[in-house]
Amino acid sequence: MKDGKFYTTVIERGQSNRNDNNHKFLVSRIRGRWLDVGCNTGWLLEDVPNGTGIDSSEIVLAKAVRKGLPVVRAVAEILPFADKAFDLAVISTVLQAVLNWKVVLVEARRVAQKVIGIAPRPGTEWGVLNGKHFWVQCVVPPEDIVSMGGAVNAVPGDDGTLYYFEI
Ligand SMILES: C[S@@+](CC[C@H](N)C(=O)[O-])C[C@H]1O[C@@H](n2cnc3c(N)ncnc32)[C@H](O)[C@@H]1O
Repeated sequence: MKDGKFYTTVIERGQSNRNDNNHKFLVSRIRGRWLDVGCNTGWLLEDVPNGTGIDSSEIVLAKAVRKGLPVVRAVAEILPFADKAFDLAVISTVLQAVLNWKVVLVEARRVAQKVIGIAPRPGTEWGVLNGKHFWVQCVVPPEDIVSMGGAVNAVPGDDGTLYYFEI
């Protein structure tokens, strides 16, 4: 696993109104034993009990480790957990950064009873391949999530850049 051309930005509360808004929205929806897929510095894990985090980036994960959070370095495509080990998996603004978003969703569903997350709408800032952000690897049309049996909705307080999904 190399950080290389992938996402290595450290995210914490107070850096971005959009991230803070997503965070608040997700906190109210998390229950039970849960997995934060692409947990970054663990800032969601800090606010909701009974969570475990994984992230592929050593740089961001080091911050979570320093906070004493239960995190593991792993890729979302191959989660080191048993089938249905969690009640819920959360994938917050991660699908655009992985190589194959379908594999990631299927893997999250394997380890959790339910999966929720937030993803960029195609054509918006983080929803463009070879655009402003080199680390955008996937653009996920909301209708593709629906075709996998999921449901999509707006993220309250967002300007339409993102959508919320449950699957
Ligand atoms: C935009 S950040 C979102 C972080 C956090 N979920 C949040 O909402 O603030 C994307 C995160 O996904 C991680 N990531 C990217 N590709 C990954 C992969 N294949 N497996 C695991 N984590 C990955 C990145 O290291 C980064 O921390």
